[in-house]
Amino acid sequence: MKKGLKVLLSKEQIEERVKELAAAISRDYQGKKVLLIGVLKGAVIFLSDLCRQLEIESQIDFMAVSSYGSSTASSGVVRILKDLDEEIEGRDVLLVEDIVDTGLTLKYLKENLQARRPRSLKIATLLDKPERRKVDIEPDYCGFRIPNEFVVGYGLDYNEEYRYLADICILLEFAQ
Ligand code: IMP
Ligand code: MG
Repeated sequence: MKKGLKVLLSKEQIEERVKELAAAISRDYQGKKVLLIGVLKGAVIFLSDLCRQLEIESQIDFMAVSSYGSSTASSGVVRILKDLDEEIEGRDVLLVEDIVDTGLTLKYLKENLQARRPRSLKIATLLDKPERRKVDIEPDYCGFRIPNEFVVGYGLDYNEEYRYLADICILLEFAQ
């Protein structure tokens, strides 16, 4: 393990939990084809593991957004850098996020997608930091509730570093 990192969730714990989430999602969407919308780039690894564990059919699309502000804090002002390739009207959409922190990004995305009239819209996040919430928004599926620490790995970055780590680690530089 690299200096300055402490494992919070091991790859085995993550794998186990992703399987449980996939089972719950497969039950809830039985007989339906779900459109998984990944939020780039952080959700890529979670989405790719999740879709392979689902027992239902799925399709994949991506959005990229950037929130203005520093790299470790969200400002709530969201800009769409890459929009969906396809329309989602009438589709069963599951928005897939890496982490919900203040909730500002998610609130924006949810309202933006809802306006496109999907048949249903739910949110799956791997991680949730409920302590930090600034707006009232709850994911429908959540992998782990974690304490207020800055984490990297399994898709999550700090300045584009560490996304490749198999474990989710606390970046000790920012440890609370
Ligand atoms: P929110 O708008 O504050 O909920 O911010 C969500 C976004 O901030 C996530 O999609 C991440 O890109 C980023 N983020 C928040 N907390 C962390 C963290 O602990 N590690 C890495 N990225 C984070
Ligand atoms: Mg993100």
